[in-house]
Amino acid sequence: MTSHQRRNESGAHASSTGQALTGTGWLDAHFEACRPEYEAMLSLVGIEPGWHVLDAGCGGGSYLPLLAEIVGRSGRLAALDLAPDNVALTQKRVAGWDLPCPVEVRVGSLGSLPYPDDAFDAVWCANTTQHFDDEELPAVLAELCRVVRPGGLVAVKDVDMNLLRLFPADPFLVLHLCEASLRVDRVTAESRGSLRGRELRRWLERSGLTEVWQRTTLIERWAPLRPVERRFFGDWLAYLAGLAEERGVPEADLATWRALRDPTAPDHLLDHPEFYASEGQVVAVGRVPDAHKGRGRDGGT
Ligand SMILES: C[S@@+](CC[C@H](N)C(=O)[O-])C[C@H]1O[C@@H](n2cnc3c(N)ncnc32)[C@H](O)[C@@H]1O
Repeated sequence: MTSHQRRNESGAHASSTGQALTGTGWLDAHFEACRPEYEAMLSLVGIEPGWHVLDAGCGGGSYLPLLAEIVGRSGRLAALDLAPDNVALTQKRVAGWDLPCPVEVRVGSLGSLPYPDDAFDAVWCANTTQHFDDEELPAVLAELCRVVRPGGLVAVKDVDMNLLRLFPADPFLVLHLCEASLRVDRVTAESRGSLRGRELRRWLERSGLTEVWQRTTLIERWAPLRPVERRFFGDWLAYLAGLAEERGVPEADLATWRALRDPTAPDHLLDHPEFYASEGQVVAVGRVPDAHKGRGRDGGT
């Protein structure tokens, strides 16, 4: 259980766990708005045909069709998520998708994965490490490493909020919100996790993985937005506007945030003919070394 869950906060676009931005309506819009870049990031990881791969924190299962295409008929997939409603929807989707390989979907936690050591050739973990604070993350990465065989891959993808930029708007608008969030509570997963993207490489190295690499993708969208892009950015900006109010951003920013609270409002920034938004996403990948095994979850001998 994460610190975020311990606080039992129920957030916007939540799944049954109450974690903000884990509901499948939100996740689907986010994935569709960013699909080309997201699928390109997964394609780069190095997953091979015939592999057994875990999608850890699968949400609504958006990555499973591409994962299934990559591992092909001789491969196998497992998908796991903390939220029972996300798992139920993913199971339903998998049953209707006619994927080339078997997919087993279950409820479970990244903190204690229900799989034996070395069960997988690779783990794909997208936008889920953001739910853990800095104290929790090493144990989660140790779990991901434990279930991957020596020589297999651990791939972690996550957002870096520092790279979110809106135009036309003050270039420091989002940075002020990030700063205010960390000032309120420096260690919450919610604030810290979304700012950790470009540090992921170092976290993977510290967890004992080798051959670690990282690539950052800047996802840029311009007016006119496709309907799914408008829905995604509209929902996201409304959520951030709520946070801005709670976290206490500079007074000068509040008028801008308040105008973003209602995506259907006339003259919304999203409908500005020069609207621009960027989202930064990072993928970091490492290989499980032979020597890593047998050290136990706490890294001891
Ligand atoms: C932001 S969503 C990303 C979902 C999916 N990977 C995607 O990129 O579309 C994060 C997911 O992680 C799940 N999650 C959060 N904490 C978890 C935990 N401790 N164990 C397993 N899943 C968790 C949430 O329920 C949610 O489905």
